[in-house]
This record gives sequence, structure tokens and C-alpha cells, in this order.
Amino acid sequence: HKIHSFDTLPSTQIVARELVLKGAKEGEVIITNEQTAGRGRLGRAWHTSQQKALAFSLLLKPAILPRDVPKLTLVTAVAVIRAIKELTKLPVQIKWPNDIILNGKKLAGILTEMQSEADSVHCIIVGIGLNVNQTEEDIPTELKDIATSLKMEGGQEYRRAALLAKILEEIECLYELYLSEGFLPIKAMWESHAIHIGTTVEVHTIQETIQGIAQGINDDGALQVMDQTGKLHSVYSADVSI
Ligand code: BTN
Repeated sequence: HKIHSFDTLPSTQIVARELVLKGAKEGEVIITNEQTAGRGRLGRAWHTSQQKALAFSLLLKPAILPRDVPKLTLVTAVAVIRAIKELTKLPVQIKWPNDIILNGKKLAGILTEMQSEADSVHCIIVGIGLNVNQTEEDIPTELKDIATSLKMEGGQEYRRAALLAKILEEIECLYELYLSEGFLPIKAMWESHAIHIGTTVEVHTIQETIQGIAQGINDDGALQVMDQTGKLHSVYSADVSI
């Protein structure tokens, strides 16, 4: 991997986009010690404390259709989970679509953005933010109840470089698997790490709120939720609360 490393940036996603315009290749990584305008899903902000978190973007150029891109986010979530489990042994889980949860709080997030022309994907920028060595004081007040770090749960410091290397290794492995074998093996792995399969969830989409039991994901990566009337909903974009 060619790694572009910075001390501070507004957002690695923005720099990744600029590098794509300059001809950056698949596998290039943009990483920074601090973000001043980190971005999350659904237009939210993402906090990256200086030196204590991992914040990076990975450039992918797969020959897939735009509608397959959400699956790649799930591929990444499984890869991040496997890397963290291997290095820390902490019980991390996935909340659909790609929140990484540890002991009920958010540990990491993934933001996938794509550039496409007509019906072909030009490039995908996968942004990963992982809270590593933050302590209680580093977490903004309004996030204290919902966010955590590896150090806060594991009681020790973790090496960011080792985590980065392992996450990239796992993404590479599962990305190859997805491109060669399709989504089914990934789907099984994703479901085995998911927090809410078989439990009652509340799903907030732009149009409606659905209450029901999460059944799993379908072959497109959409969350399947059965409501009280027995109707099955396929959810493509939403926030899920448990
Ligand atoms: C989310 O859970 O809402 C996704 C958060 C993604 C954060 C990462 S940090 C690196 C990359 N750069 C950004 O501005 N966002 C992503």
C-alpha cells in the first residue's frame, strides 16, 4: 500500500477525493493523526482526537456496479471486526450497516463514498474511524454515553500502526474473497458478528420508523426486519436502535 500520511487534515475523505483526481491507484491509503472536519454517515460529524485514534481512507477500484457498493461497506465492517478481535481479543460486534460496537457503545465507524459514471463505479473511498487510545476526557461530553475506545474497554494502550496493518490485511483478504466468490461467504460472516439478529429493533428511515425483529441481511446487504403484522421489510438506508 502506498500510504499518504499527514499530521492534521480536515478529512481524509476529502484528500482521498483530490488524490483520485490526480490519478491515485487502488490500495492507496490516506491517514492522519487528527481531523478537524471528519465526516460520518448521514451528514454527521466524526471526532478524531489527536494521536489517539485511527482515521484513514482506502481507495478501491473494483469492477462492480454502483448497487453493489453497500456490500463493500459490509465487507469492510467484517474486516475491521476480525482485525480488532485478533489483536485485542475484545468482544466487538457489528450494528447494521457498519457501526462497530464494543460493550454497547460505538467504537468505530465506516463511511463509503463512491464516484461513478453512468452505470460503472470509477472508484470507492472507504473511510474508517477507530477510537484507539482515547480516555474518558478525550470523548466530547455529548458522546460520553454512546462512544468508547479500545483503551477505555481493554484497560491498556494499543498500537495504532499494528491495527492499521491488520485492518488493511483483512480488508484485502475479504475484498478478494468478495470479488472471487460473491457476497454469500461475507454475508455469513457479517451475520455471525451482528449484534441484533433475532432481537427487537427500531429502524428509522427517512420516510418511516419500523419496529420489529431483525432477521438478518438479504443478498444485497439490506437489513430484513419483520414487523408485528408479519410483514418483512428490506431496509437499505436507516439508523437502527436496539
Ligand atoms: C460513521 O459511523 O458515521 C462513519 C464514520 C467514518 C469516519 C472516518 S474517519 C476517516 C474518514 N474520514 C472522514 O472524514 N470520515 C471517515
